[in-house]
Amino acid sequence: MKVLVTGAGGMLAHAVLPALAAAGHEVLPLARAQADVTRLAQLLEPARAFRPDWIVHLAAFTNVDLCESEQERAFIVNGLGPRNASLAAAEVGAAVMALSTDYVFDGATQAPRREHDPIGPLGVYGRSKLAGERGAREVNVRHVIVRTSWLFGAGGRNFVDTILARARAGEPLRVVDDQHGSPTSANDLADAMCALIERREFGTYHVANTGTTSWHGFAEAILAEHRVAEGGVLPSPAVARISSEELARPARRPAYSVLNTDWYQHVTGRTLPDWHDALKRYLSSRPDAAA
Ligand SMILES: NC(=O)c1ccc[n+]([C@@H]2O[C@H](COP(=O)([O-])OP(=O)(O)OC[C@H]3O[C@@H](n4cnc5c(N)ncnc54)[C@H](OP(=O)(O)O)[C@@H]3O)[C@@H](O)[C@H]2O)c1
Repeated sequence: MKVLVTGAGGMLAHAVLPALAAAGHEVLPLARAQADVTRLAQLLEPARAFRPDWIVHLAAFTNVDLCESEQERAFIVNGLGPRNASLAAAEVGAAVMALSTDYVFDGATQAPRREHDPIGPLGVYGRSKLAGERGAREVNVRHVIVRTSWLFGAGGRNFVDTILARARAGEPLRVVDDQHGSPTSANDLADAMCALIERREFGTYHVANTGTTSWHGFAEAILAEHRVAEGGVLPSPAVARISSEELARPARRPAYSVLNTDWYQHVTGRTLPDWHDALKRYLSSRPDAAA
């Protein structure tokens, strides 16, 4: 199939582009410089020329804290962008796959969220992504919305690299222990997206690695796994537990945003691996893994 990908310069794209190619698809990657997704014409033109079967929409304004002070930009990029991608797909008879987030939930209940559970975003990022989900659904019946969580992978800023860089620099590590979720490998998500593209069963899906932890638990696992991988070379700093209130970030985040992935498993017959396994693979694939 032919697949047009927006946001092709981002972290998830770094995993999605090779996964699509490996699955035998012909791919047209469009980074921000080639297509600003807030401009419908910049998607329509390449869509009309390339005639994709799918538009995979990855472009987004992903800085959760900055979204609070740049609301206009958040709603234009995250709200209008998916609608534009979906419209461009509809125009050429293609399906659209748009990425969304666990932050559309309020995280107030300690139970993994299903696709149809009540939403209630706590911040601008979540609200703008929700607007994007709605826009994408509204204009193209052939849509797949993929909600995922706590992504890490090569080719972008992510929590794993941040923790390792701070540990290497000998900086004190203070990490919140009152937000729980499922860390998810961009590579595993990319494979799952390919499986959903093959299925063509439209709708909303929760896709994340299996298992749950807090950001503090994730930080400790990163350091432990990395010490094993590097034969104990990295210093072993203690990771202090703090609360979200102490960290005082501009954006509120859900306390519990674990996604229930049963629907994805039911449709595809597949399950994503446990996040510990995904983390080990990521650490061993990093360029400095054998250093
Ligand atoms: N990262 C996570 O933890 C996470 C969790 C749940 C869901 N998601 C979703 O997964 C998707 C991929 O995220 P990611 O982690 O790969 O994010 P990312 O690394 O920030 O990539 C997003 C890309 O979109 C580009 N972009 C921003 N504004 C654009 C515009 N107006 N037109 C075209 N491109 C634009 C960015 O370019 P610039 O760098 O030049 O701005 C960047 O290359 C997003 O929909 C995100 O909301 C991510």
